[in-house]
Amino acid sequence: MLKGFGGVLLRIVLLGPPGSGKGTCAKIIEEMYSIPVITTGDMLRQSVSKETALGNVAKTYMDKGELVPDDLVNKLVKERIMESDAKNGFILDGYPRSVRQAESLEQILLEIGKKLDHVINVILEDEKIIIRLSQRRSCPKCGAIYHLENKPPKIVGQCDVCHSNIIQRDDDKESVIKHRLEVYWEKTQPLIDWYEKKYSVKNIRGDIDINYLPIALKKLIEKS
Ligand code: AP5
Repeated sequence: MLKGFGGVLLRIVLLGPPGSGKGTCAKIIEEMYSIPVITTGDMLRQSVSKETALGNVAKTYMDKGELVPDDLVNKLVKERIMESDAKNGFILDGYPRSVRQAESLEQILLEIGKKLDHVINVILEDEKIIIRLSQRRSCPKCGAIYHLENKPPKIVGQCDVCHSNIIQRDDDKESVIKHRLEVYWEKTQPLIDWYEKKYSVKNIRGDIDINYLPIALKKLIEKS
């Protein structure tokens, strides 16, 4: 297992529609380079399950497949990036999702005197996403991601990593998935052009054979 990449610290943004495979890529990169994943969806879901003030607000948006207001998410991410384990790099999964969020991230990077090393865009067509998400299962405790066909857990219904019971997310119902995709095309997809002006956006398909994905990601990250 790779620990670091020639001493270079990595700051990565993962873009892509819901269900394209951002979280799966993020976990692989985390394992390869030992840098933490910051998944806004998981952070918000934790706040929802703890019924914090933020969680109670976030739930009203998440249940409908809407984006949680920028200011709330920007604050959450800023605090997380300032934590000590993110000093050596981070993988942002599901953030930014709007131009306002991307601008806030640039401001944070300016404050800490850093730049992004990679902006990776995970591509998958809407029709494939709708089919795929109905078979996704995730671990509510450690965030591990499974797929009933492509990546089943070793023991049915149980997380391989922490042995908790795996679940189907509430927002993985077909009607909510369709709305999440509409929100993606309206608010998040335009970010690809926004990033193209600042960084070189690297595309990867979200349906590459899951066993080959670590090699494909390593090539993408290390070739530049
Ligand atoms: P979030 O949790 O971020 O959901 P999402 O972006 O909709 O993305 P997903 O987690 O659904 O999919 P993914 O791309 O990570 O795919 P995965 O790897 O799981 O956000 C949820 C909600 O929180 C939002 O709707 C919003 O309300 C709120 N929110 C979050 N961030 C926010 C922000 N920044 N601003 C405002 N609101 C925010 O893969 C999917 C399935 O495919 C899995 O089953 C997996 O096993 C399988 N799979 C993956 N790769 C492959 C492959 N190569 N081959 C075969 N199967 C694969």
